[in-house]
Amino acid sequence: MVCCHHYAPIAGADGAFTVDASRITFGRGCLAELGPRAAAHGLRRVALFTDPRLRALPAFAAALASLEGAGLDVVVYAEVEVEPTDRSFKAAARFAAEARPDGYVSLGGGSVIDTCKAANLYASHPADFLTYVNAPIGAGVPPPGPLRPHIACPTTSGTGSEVTGIAIFDLLALEAKTGIAAPALRPSEALIDPACADTLPGEVVAASGLDVLSHALESYTARPFSRRPAPAVLGSRPLSQGANPWSDIGCREALTLAGRLLERAVADADDREAREGMMWAATLAGIAFGNAGVHIPHGMSYAIAGLVRDYRPAGYASDAPMVPHGMAVIVNAPAAFRFTAAVLPERHLEAAACLGADTRGAAPADAGALLSGRLVALMRAVGMPNGAGGVGYHDGDCEALAGKAILQQRLLQNAPCRVDEGDLRRLFAAAMRYW
Ligand SMILES: [Fe+2]
Repeated sequence: MVCCHHYAPIAGADGAFTVDASRITFGRGCLAELGPRAAAHGLRRVALFTDPRLRALPAFAAALASLEGAGLDVVVYAEVEVEPTDRSFKAAARFAAEARPDGYVSLGGGSVIDTCKAANLYASHPADFLTYVNAPIGAGVPPPGPLRPHIACPTTSGTGSEVTGIAIFDLLALEAKTGIAAPALRPSEALIDPACADTLPGEVVAASGLDVLSHALESYTARPFSRRPAPAVLGSRPLSQGANPWSDIGCREALTLAGRLLERAVADADDREAREGMMWAATLAGIAFGNAGVHIPHGMSYAIAGLVRDYRPAGYASDAPMVPHGMAVIVNAPAAFRFTAAVLPERHLEAAACLGADTRGAAPADAGALLSGRLVALMRAVGMPNGAGGVGYHDGDCEALAGKAILQQRLLQNAPCRVDEGDLRRLFAAAMRYW
């Protein structure tokens, strides 16, 4: 079946890949289906997770009305923090354990959906917090059984969390971003209503749209599943199983949509074709990276976000210094893809063409420059900062940034080539400024 030479079988490597996806409903107005969909899972008492800002918006009122209209008892948890931590995950889990819902709804961005996944996990299968956290920081134990039903309703066109089994948080004691990654965490359903994202500021659409773009690029260029060692336990593949023919389909379409529509979606909140197209791109890229996994730009992003000094982005409610996730990813991407293009030039050329670059007559050696050039043009067009230097870093920070990024082994091992700390230092130096 897998005839492409990219996935040619290798002795001792995995010979198969698994496709997992949440049930998806996509379309303007579909949030009204929330109540009947929750009832169809047999739910009677639902925990509705959101954040304090979203609680005041019409989407929250619509979600609540739909659930109550279906006769469900709803308990609201609106204390989700924008950049979740182990402390905020534990607080949400305590709420869930005390409220004893028989199912969950999350309405928000990645932080809300991830927090809801964690609350569902620890309330369903109580354990010491580090039990399920990714190794080597935690024990990386898989959840011992299924979780309660969870319907995820994203309000941004970015993280893809609604279709993945990954929950990301800051572990405060180590000042490190890590996560919990297990198929059981994947929401049972995703209800994706583009109307929920109608009022997003252009700056947020830009950063989240570039996160989408990088999900697709990283999944498309990840180490092929057929080069990952075969699982020690039959059938127990990691979530980051590597590029595969299923993910490739979503990646190419997401890249094509983002290349065509991102600038329009940022520039004009009333451009429904562009905004809805980016929401669909986010869904496709989410399914893709939920089955393939991301690699270097995301691995570097956790250092960029974690060591922030005083950068405060426009368009975001928070007063605290922060680098929004999509921005923290994309400032690394042109440098990272120049690096990985050397080992997979054809894939990088194909990706550049999907994004709208003119690749006619290009040689394999041109792949890195063409793809990173197209990325830099898109970044400039939607007002992104000029590399890591644009969010407050300077050349003297490369050592500290590399020291943080090297901890992201789950992601770095999914890269198409080996990446050591020296490589990361050089990549941060190359990512410092692009124009
Ligand atoms: Fe991301």
